[in-house]
Amino acid sequence: PRIYIPGDSGALALGAEKVAKAIANELAERGIEAKIVRNGSRGAYFLEPMVEVATANGRVAYGPVKPSDVKSLFDSGFLKGGHHKRWLGAPDKIPFLAKQTRLTFARCGINDPLSLDAYKSLGGLKGLQNAVAMAPADIVKQVTESGLRGRGGAGFPTGIKWKTVLDTTSERKYIVCNADEGDSATFADRMIMEGDPFVLIEGMAIAGIATGATKGFVYIRSEYPHAVAVMNKAVEIARKAGVLGVNVLGSPNAFDMEIRVGAGAYVCGEETSLLNSLEGKRGVVRAKPPLPAIQGLFGKPTVINNVISLASVPVIMDKGAAFYKDFGMGRSRGTIPIQIAGNVKQGGLFETAFGLTLGEIVDEIGGGTSTGRPVKAVQVGGPLGAYFPRALFDTPFDYEEFAKRDGLIGHAGITVFDDTADMLKQARFAMEFCAIESCGKCTPCRIGSTRGVETIDRLAAGIEPEKNLALVTDLCNTMKFGSLCALGGFTPYPVMSSITHFPEDFKPAPARVAAE
Ligand code: NAI
Ligand code: SF4
Repeated sequence: PRIYIPGDSGALALGAEKVAKAIANELAERGIEAKIVRNGSRGAYFLEPMVEVATANGRVAYGPVKPSDVKSLFDSGFLKGGHHKRWLGAPDKIPFLAKQTRLTFARCGINDPLSLDAYKSLGGLKGLQNAVAMAPADIVKQVTESGLRGRGGAGFPTGIKWKTVLDTTSERKYIVCNADEGDSATFADRMIMEGDPFVLIEGMAIAGIATGATKGFVYIRSEYPHAVAVMNKAVEIARKAGVLGVNVLGSPNAFDMEIRVGAGAYVCGEETSLLNSLEGKRGVVRAKPPLPAIQGLFGKPTVINNVISLASVPVIMDKGAAFYKDFGMGRSRGTIPIQIAGNVKQGGLFETAFGLTLGEIVDEIGGGTSTGRPVKAVQVGGPLGAYFPRALFDTPFDYEEFAKRDGLIGHAGITVFDDTADMLKQARFAMEFCAIESCGKCTPCRIGSTRGVETIDRLAAGIEPEKNLALVTDLCNTMKFGSLCALGGFTPYPVMSSITHFPEDFKPAPARVAAE
C-alpha cells in the first residue's frame, strides 16, 4: 500500500509531521510494509493534515487526522479505504476540491513534488516541449492571446511585458520570479513551490525561450524555508534531466536558474526593490521609468513575474491560448487561485475561473466565519487591499469590477472578519504596517504613515473628530497620488474603505463606548 501525507508547510504547521511519525510507528508495530509518500497539499487546509491511501478503487482521503486517530484508523482498515470518523472519500469528490477548476494547480498535492516522472505522467513538460519548437514571437503571441495578466496583483498583461523584453536588444536578459509573497492571507506561491515546483521551472524556461533570456532567478522570502529547499532540489533534478541547461529538452535553447532568499522586508516584493536586493543592495524602491523590462536586473532587460503568472504559462502552451481564455469574464481571463483565510470555517486555496462573487466565495466556499458570528468585513488583496462590507458581496472576482468599487483583487488573498472587528483599529493597523515596512524613499509614505497612525489615534480618543477625519482623508489622497510605489500608494485603500463602509466605527470615543 501507498500512504500520502503532505510535507507542505501549511500541513506541517497543522501537525502533519507528528501524524507521519505515528503512521510509520503503527506500520512498524503491525509489521505492515507500506510506502509513505510526502506529497504537497491540495489546499483544503481546514482538512489538513489530510492523509490519503491508494486503494484498488482509487485514492481515499482522511482528515483532519490527529496522531491520536492513527490507531483507530488502522483498526478501521484504512489501508483499504475503510470507514472512520475522519473518512472523506475520494479526494477529488470532496466538495471544496470538486467545485474548483484547476489549471495552474492541476497537479499540486497529488504526488511527490520532486518526482519528475510523476510530473510528466500528469502532463508536465508538454508546454515546454511545444515552446522549444516555436519562434519566440509566437510564444509571446500565444501568452498574449491567452489573456493572462500578472497574478502578483497589478494584473498587467503578461504577454505585453514579455514582448517588451523580447523587443529590447541586449547581450544578456533575465527572468526573475517574484516569490516574496508578503501579502496577508496569501499562500498560493508557497503551495506551488512546495507542491509542484517543476511547473514553475517549466514556466520560467518558457519565459526565457520566449524573450531570449538565458538565466533566471527565483527570489523567495526567507519565511519560506520549505519552499526554498524544495525549489533548490527541483532545480538540481531539472538540470540533471536536461530540462534546464545549455540544451533545454535537447533544443538549441539555453536556460538555467538559481534560487535566492530574501531577508524579510515586505517592500522587497515590489519589483524594483526586489531587483536591488537580488543585486546585493539595500532593498529600496527604484523610480520607474526605466521599466525593469528595459533596464532590470544588473541594468539588463528583465521579465519579472509572480510565481502564479509563470506557473500558469505551461498549461497555456500545452492546451493553447483559446483554451485558457475561455475561462473567466471581461478582461479577467483564465483562472485565479483564491486564498481564503482569516476568521473562516473552510480556509484554503480555491482555484476557479474569474467571476464568482465575493459573497459566494465567503459564504458558500468558505462556509462563513469559524466563530459562527456574522461576517462584518472582508479584506481582499492583502494588507493594502480594501475592506468590503456585506453590501458589496455581489462584486464578481474580476480586476475591473473590484477597481470600480475602489478595491483590488491583488494577489487574490481574502481575509474574513466577524462582527467583533473594530474597523478603526484595522485602519490604524494599515497605517502602522506602512510605517514599519516603508523603505523610506519618499515622503508621503515615510512620514505620512506615521502621521496617519497619530491622527487615527486622536480620532479614537475622540479629539476633534471632524477635523481629524478630514485630515486622514486628505493624507490618504496625498499618499495615493504622491507615493513612489504601491506600499504608500495603496495604504489608503484599507483606511478609506474602513471609513467609507464602516463610519460607525469612527464615531468619537464616548459614542463608541456608549454604542458598545
Ligand atoms: P505596476 O502597475 O506599476 O506594474 C505592473 C507590472 O507591469 C510591473 O512589472 C511593471 O514593470 C510592468 N509594466 C508596466 N508597463 C509596462 C510596459 N509597457 N512594458 C512592460 N512591462 C510593463 O504595479 P506594481 O507596483 O508592480 O504592483 C502593484 C501591485 O502589487 C498591487 O496591485 C498589489 O496588489 C500587488 N502587491 C502584491 C503583493 C504580493 O505579496 N504578491 C504585495 C504587495 C502588493
Ligand atoms: Fe518606499 Fe513607501 Fe515610497 Fe514605496 S511608497 S518608495 S515603500 S517610501
